[in-house]
Amino acid sequence: MTAGAPRHFLDLWKLEGHELRAILEDAKARKAARKGWPQGRVDPDAPARDRTLAMIFEKNSTRTRFSFDAAMRQLGGDVIISNAVDMQIGRGEPIEDTARVLSRMVDAIMIRSNVHEDVERLAMWSTIPVINGLSDKSHPCQILADLMTFEEHRGPVTGRTFAWVGDGNNVCSSFIHAAPKLGFRLNIATPAIFHPDMMDLARAAEQQGQVTTTHDPREAVRGADCVITDTWVSMGDTDHDERLDALEPYQVDEKLMGEAAGDAVFLHCLPAHRGEEVTDAVIDGPQSLIWDEAENRIHAQKSILAWCFGAI
Ligand code: CP
Ligand code: NVA
Repeated sequence: MTAGAPRHFLDLWKLEGHELRAILEDAKARKAARKGWPQGRVDPDAPARDRTLAMIFEKNSTRTRFSFDAAMRQLGGDVIISNAVDMQIGRGEPIEDTARVLSRMVDAIMIRSNVHEDVERLAMWSTIPVINGLSDKSHPCQILADLMTFEEHRGPVTGRTFAWVGDGNNVCSSFIHAAPKLGFRLNIATPAIFHPDMMDLARAAEQQGQVTTTHDPREAVRGADCVITDTWVSMGDTDHDERLDALEPYQVDEKLMGEAAGDAVFLHCLPAHRGEEVTDAVIDGPQSLIWDEAENRIHAQKSILAWCFGAI
């Protein structure tokens, strides 16, 4: 990173492992320090005091929208939220111009974008930090919350085995980005047509990441400490029927969970489609950590924001 350049949070592979570790540890400490507090109370150090975050949504969101808003309040800052369709970018104003305008009005930008390149272009032209709140290619904020959740329940991720089952999508990509940085093994099972991004796999291999791919969900899950899946039809996907057909053998059910380690946990970023990618028995069962995972979006993002503001 160039001295004085804004600290963008665009993809996990762009950060150093020690930076991701520092964000995770800050998130855990902040969460512990405010146990039992009302959600609106501000953390004593208020690292976002006097700061405003702009949030731009090109796609729907519940968790990302509410958790970033709550996060900024808990950090002592403020937010301005807009759907892209209500902004001039919804009528074709260049993202480069939007970047330069918002850089004069707020202190950071979070964007949920249809096209990953737009996130990159926004960051290139912003003089303030830009955060990727999900694109078609990745979802880095989610994975920090997921890893935090695993560590709260099972200890350090380093040396542990994660199994991704289903669509090799944007969330899967961010797991691939994180694996070499934090030293966990990642076994991925997808059908051939919904294979993970080859560039992501190549980069992970260059970084000595232990990432494997297979078409067999049982092979991926065998002995895993954590089993993860996601919707078979992401926002923007148009091939609904083809996806459901191809992904049917990849449903995470109790039988598949039985292949994992005895104390394995289950994660899902939500929203879930019970009866498709996961059965009720698994997602609502004793191995599922999905509600802690959803809550941890707030805690992880507070520390991502603190890192962007130079407070970590
Ligand atoms: N997991 C997640 O990002 O949820 P939202 O789409 O509701 O923000
Ligand atoms: N893969 C999903 C994640 C939603 C949080 C999507 O992009 O729609």
